[in-house]
Amino acid sequence: MAGTDQSVRIARIAPADLSAYKGLRDEALRLYPDAFDADIESEQARPPESYLGRLGLGETLGGTFLLGAWDGRELVGMIGLERQTQHKLRHGAELNSMMVHPRHTGRGIGILLIQAAIQEARQAIGLEQVVLRVSTSSASAIRLYERAGFQSCGVVPHAIKLIDGPGQVRYFDKLTMTLIL
Ligand SMILES: CC(C)(COP(=O)(O)OP(=O)(O)OC[C@H]1O[C@@H](n2cnc3c(N)ncnc32)[C@H](O)[C@@H]1OP(=O)(O)O)[C@@H](O)C(=O)NCCC(=O)NCCS
Repeated sequence: MAGTDQSVRIARIAPADLSAYKGLRDEALRLYPDAFDADIESEQARPPESYLGRLGLGETLGGTFLLGAWDGRELVGMIGLERQTQHKLRHGAELNSMMVHPRHTGRGIGILLIQAAIQEARQAIGLEQVVLRVSTSSASAIRLYERAGFQSCGVVPHAIKLIDGPGQVRYFDKLTMTLIL
């Protein structure tokens, strides 16, 4: 692993941070439409408080949270984990929302975020596995997940369909990866 940046602090995103989270999230949706399932047009009008459920507050077993990477007072990266709620599925959680602002990539923040998320996931009671879906176009993200121990399970072809204009369609495949905690 390349050297990680000691000036960056990884911490859970709290209710007071939701405006910063929303700002970074909207930027991610705008910059990387192929990397995320949500689209900026549908999400940008959502108020920051609407993401409160993603913080997992009051969930006694753990396994649902958002982590932020802070460079001073600036939120420069994020990652999320969302635990399944149905009885037969709640030993699993989905990793999502992984993004480092392009001004701060290549500093080791991505690997710090994944490692912190895995560490936090291991504290959750009864959580056994983490699953994620990543666009095959996100080569840097796939390398990070592999470095963190995730294994590839298979590809869904044409999982993302982007319509750029009349007759201008792009498809992106999604790779499913899993980590046993
Ligand atoms: C994927 C993403 C999160 C990576 O974040 P990042 O902070 O750049 O990640 P890191 O810095 O830990 O690693 C990125 C690269 O920089 C290298 N690097 C890290 N620290 C370094 C350092 N100090 N010196 C030189 N290189 C370094 C890593 O080895 C890695 O190299 P690789 O891409 O050749 O494997 C970021 O590029 C991103 O937000 N992409 C768009 C959104 C996206 O695809 N998200 C995934 C959704 S599933």
